[in-house]
Amino acid sequence: MTVREILRGRMRAALEAAGLDPARADISVAADTRFGDYQSNAAMVLAKERKSNPRQLAAEILPQLDVDGISAPPEIAGAGFLNFRLDPEFLAARLAELSADPRLGIATAVRPLRIVIDFSSPNVAKPMHVGHIRSTILGDCLARVARFLGHVVVTDNHIGDWGTQFGKVIYGWKHFRDEPALARDPISELVRLYREVNRIEESDESVKRAAREELVKLQARDPENLAIWKKAVELSWSAFEKLYAMLDVRFDERLGESAYNDALAPLCDDLARRGIAGTSEGALCVFFPEIPDLAERPLIVRKSDGGFLYATTDLATIDYRVARWNPDAIWYVVGAPQALHFRQIFAAASRIGISANLAHIAFGSILGEDRKIMKTRSGENVGLAEVLDEAVARAGRLLVDRGLPPDEAGATARVIGLGAVKYAELSQNRLTDYVFSWDKLLAMEGNTAPYLMNAYVRIRSIFRKAGAEADPLAPVTVAEPAERALAIKLVQYAETVPGVVEDFRPNLLANYLYELANTFHSFYEACPVLKAEPATRASRLLLCDLTARTLAHGLSLLGIACPDRM
Ligand code: ARG
Repeated sequence: MTVREILRGRMRAALEAAGLDPARADISVAADTRFGDYQSNAAMVLAKERKSNPRQLAAEILPQLDVDGISAPPEIAGAGFLNFRLDPEFLAARLAELSADPRLGIATAVRPLRIVIDFSSPNVAKPMHVGHIRSTILGDCLARVARFLGHVVVTDNHIGDWGTQFGKVIYGWKHFRDEPALARDPISELVRLYREVNRIEESDESVKRAAREELVKLQARDPENLAIWKKAVELSWSAFEKLYAMLDVRFDERLGESAYNDALAPLCDDLARRGIAGTSEGALCVFFPEIPDLAERPLIVRKSDGGFLYATTDLATIDYRVARWNPDAIWYVVGAPQALHFRQIFAAASRIGISANLAHIAFGSILGEDRKIMKTRSGENVGLAEVLDEAVARAGRLLVDRGLPPDEAGATARVIGLGAVKYAELSQNRLTDYVFSWDKLLAMEGNTAPYLMNAYVRIRSIFRKAGAEADPLAPVTVAEPAERALAIKLVQYAETVPGVVEDFRPNLLANYLYELANTFHSFYEACPVLKAEPATRASRLLLCDLTARTLAHGLSLLGIACPDRM
């Protein structure tokens, strides 16, 4: 149990004893630590409900509150808050427990869920752009945290490997393919073919017709076109895989859109037969008259020419996932512009009788330093590969400037560069657009990966100087204010991590780690470690060790490694 849960339990008991609703036993970290470590606004909420005086109600709850051995007697503050200040002995005992616990106090979920996470999902013959980086990094982090909490997770990369772009790609492949370029950089070459055909089409109707015919032939499973399509998909996938390896992101499944081709026609027939979909101007649609903002926005599942759509594939995908994994939840980590699409899909799924909890985990855009959607100088979307390479190169220069020998700088630069890009993403509220700034993301100060890594590295160097690791059984004392602040931060790690998947907010964890690093710095400035008396030294080394472990663990849940030196 976390400290917050323990206090909540005591609060619940007190409310019950006072004849009040125990469901109101809310406990949160104190907003202002001068008045306490934790607080409850239960009295205020209850007073509002029963239109009585909150401070008076707090005074009635107080005598029922038994927090002996946990906190000093709670105090009533402000409009009726109850404030708790943890006992130093209680904190010390918690730290000893954490020190012996490889999970650092984080319990596994009482009811493990089966969760399918759909993320990354780039499109073939189109470059993976910085928008996909958000999905890849966020999705991977959510998968890591959910797994650590004991949920059963299936990660599925729903790549866009079937679509109208293939008519053009196949036509281009047959007429303008450049083999060496294809071998060197398959995605760029496929994109070049696509764009080339697009360009020629504009002035040449016959090419437009020919490209469309290639698409029709592909859809009719023409062996030659099918072979070209397959080749294009595999080439793209191998390029994607290089990026995933670099980012240390893994997928359990890679069931792209094409995996559902054969399911689309039967699905539509079934929807029509069950009366879930109806025809309008020749198209088969699911209507939502009962949902106000969807009433005018039916979901088209089959066009009047018989063609299927992105949405049809998504419905077939849900069917498949439910049949195969029987998930409690399916999470889609996809940009905010697709919000309407997912609302329609989820509404249609509920008509079909799907009970899994479907969640669209949306995110905003990445902006360039000019605050516009990030583009290269020639106006193209910036490729993910270029971003990652540049991150590593910049981190390398930084390390050489710091005097690290070049042979060591190489490997460390990867850890720092890639970690910095990931952290820039994960430390933001996912829904807000953020400005991508190299200087900011690689800064040694501020809420950045290098800053957190540096805190970890500094602690490791303390142990190198000490010539020994911390004694995990050393008695801990929490005496100085800076020790106390650090101890409280450390016990709060276990309270922070579950919030990441409750709200789909990795930034809660990132911000926690940033505060932990800051708290550690203040501690280290105020409290000598290696020069302290033996008992104090051992206790402080244990605090240092727990801090380093928590930083490294938290970063690993974000998908970020830590260097030993930097
Ligand atoms: N390939 C799509 C895109 O790049 C994202 C797919 C997201 N997943 C899904 N099941 N629709 O926009």
